[in-house]
Amino acid sequence: MAILGIDIGGSGVKGAPVDTVRGELLAERYRVPTPQPSDVTSVVEAVAEVAGQFEGQFDRVGITFPGVVVDGVTRTAANVDKSWLDAPAARLFANRLGKPVSVLNDADAAGVAEVTFGAGRDQAGLIVMLTFGTGIGSALFLDGTLIPNTEFGHLELDGYDAETRASDRAREIEELSWEKWASRVRNYLSHVEGLLSPRLFILGGGVSKKADRFLPLIDIRTPMVPATLLNNAGIIGAAQTAEIDARKGDRDGIAPHEAGARVAG
Ligand code: BGC
Repeated sequence: MAILGIDIGGSGVKGAPVDTVRGELLAERYRVPTPQPSDVTSVVEAVAEVAGQFEGQFDRVGITFPGVVVDGVTRTAANVDKSWLDAPAARLFANRLGKPVSVLNDADAAGVAEVTFGAGRDQAGLIVMLTFGTGIGSALFLDGTLIPNTEFGHLELDGYDAETRASDRAREIEELSWEKWASRVRNYLSHVEGLLSPRLFILGGGVSKKADRFLPLIDIRTPMVPATLLNNAGIIGAAQTAEIDARKGDRDGIAPHEAGARVAG
């Protein structure tokens, strides 16, 4: 079965067919800018444009979304247009693309890929993946199993929504030095550490490419590693999820033109 992974990010919508056994892209990824405003109709069209580049090369699609996704419905929209609140995303994408579609949170997708193929491979116990980008995304794993939609980026930090202080966008907007930003990230990680006592933090998002600039400045007890799949983690994790859904007999993937036919669990 050929699977297309698509990652909807703050600045770009990116996709490629994925080898889900090896965790690799089968073709160079194709990217279009994320529409502004990022309303449902425009983003569905952007996704269709990306999928159109790989016409005839896939049977199913996995798509990431930067918010909570429950049963294919997008429940929050912190950094995207508010038209996504309670949008039947999986059904809309499936109808537009004419293929079964699975939709999941972007950090959850990146975490799934990292835990299978990257920095969290073969790690037992509780693992927290955090992505530092436009917002802060989180993915929680127990013995390799995802506990979805954790939204730790919105924990309170110094009286603020944590991602407004410690995301990579906050670093850029406030023109923070690495020292200053690392100190905020340290306080944030220390807070998450106190709540969950994980075995490992995986730090992802674009900024993880510059891990050497800030990781040495963060002194917490939990081991930390940078993500290794970088830009492709979301695409790969989305495709893996679509494949798992297919094996479950479409219980979670939404087939085209199949309104509300999803069975929970
Ligand atoms: C959203 C999360 C998302 C993260 C990264 C946050 O604002 O609430 O769902 O994973 O940004 O995109």
